[in-house]
Amino acid sequence: MSTVPMMESCLTELVGIRRDLHEHPELGYEEHRTSEVVQQALKSAGVEFRAGLAGGTGVLGHIPGGDGQPIALRADMDALPILEQSGVDWTSKHEGRMHACGHDGHTTILIGTAQILAAMSREGSLPRPVTLVFQPAEEGGAGGKRMVDDGCLDGSVLGPAVSAMFGLHGWPALPLGILASRPGPILASADGFEARITGRGGHAAMPHLCVDPIAAAAAVIQSAQHVVSRRVDPVQGGVLSITRVEGGTTHNIIPEQVFLQGTTRFLEPEAGEALHSGFEEILHGVAAAHGCTAEIDWHDGYPVTYNDPEAYAHWDAVTAKTFGRDRVQTMSPVMGGEDFSFYGQVVPACFFALGLLPEGQNSMPGLHHPCFDFNDDAIPVGIEAFIALAMA
Ligand code: NI
Repeated sequence: MSTVPMMESCLTELVGIRRDLHEHPELGYEEHRTSEVVQQALKSAGVEFRAGLAGGTGVLGHIPGGDGQPIALRADMDALPILEQSGVDWTSKHEGRMHACGHDGHTTILIGTAQILAAMSREGSLPRPVTLVFQPAEEGGAGGKRMVDDGCLDGSVLGPAVSAMFGLHGWPALPLGILASRPGPILASADGFEARITGRGGHAAMPHLCVDPIAAAAAVIQSAQHVVSRRVDPVQGGVLSITRVEGGTTHNIIPEQVFLQGTTRFLEPEAGEALHSGFEEILHGVAAAHGCTAEIDWHDGYPVTYNDPEAYAHWDAVTAKTFGRDRVQTMSPVMGGEDFSFYGQVVPACFFALGLLPEGQNSMPGLHHPCFDFNDDAIPVGIEAFIALAMA
């Protein structure tokens, strides 16, 4: 049983909302129905809000409170282009789209938090104003950045300027009832690149008259494996993965060009610089050694999700007091990316993991897996954490 009043009476409705969202997943910037569900829920709870943000589907709610420091709580609303295979009764009705990252759960948790905090605000027991950020397009669309750019945290849209922000993510590897976070970098920066190695095409029977970009690409790919092990500070670590190789058309033609695509992941800016410069040197140098030329385009991904040490210390103290020290853990950083990082660039922020793994199970389908389904039993835990942060 939850210590938060109202929770039990809200839960049945909230599980219904979560499963309804799961049945109707929408991709980034297309979350029109989801945004409508959020707006209806905020309206019923008597929460003031602005809709139409961040390209159309973002919603910003505001709950007035006492004169404590205003905080913001965040949920992401978008789904993924995956064909669901979970077999649950509330399986996606939108073929090829699914809530495989649990954003249906995050949205529901923030709706439930809004309902309870709105009631507390009316009673005069909420010590600070709370901003509710329902953002679109976390999965690659940087909806969080657009919410920031639209002024959602600086007081220009609704409510006061925010002085701290918290967000959560359902975590399949963590047991239900457990929360985890860490100070400093918690999730990686994820950049993408596209590279072209150009040689001189011709007849495969006369390689001496050609410059073979396939042989050069093979050498580049081999040498690139040394970037992480030889160029990046081993304490910082990093990832360089080449994930797509395209070149050639048939057996008797040496092609003109080979195309490479890939990603780098890192937690510290120095590691990012070492990955980028190390790969560029290998790409250009090894291509040149094979008589080829090379070009590369980088696509900036999400920045590192960085937990402000004070915001983290506050989160740790508040959740340990609420749930008990044994339920609040310190976690290692993860090389996935998150657009919660953009909020952390403008306000002190803390992102945390919410355990989803049911008791008695060793594993469950991971995030982005076609069988993933958010664990509804984690909804009250997430709400209780958010409420504790608002009330502390
Ligand atoms: Ni996610």
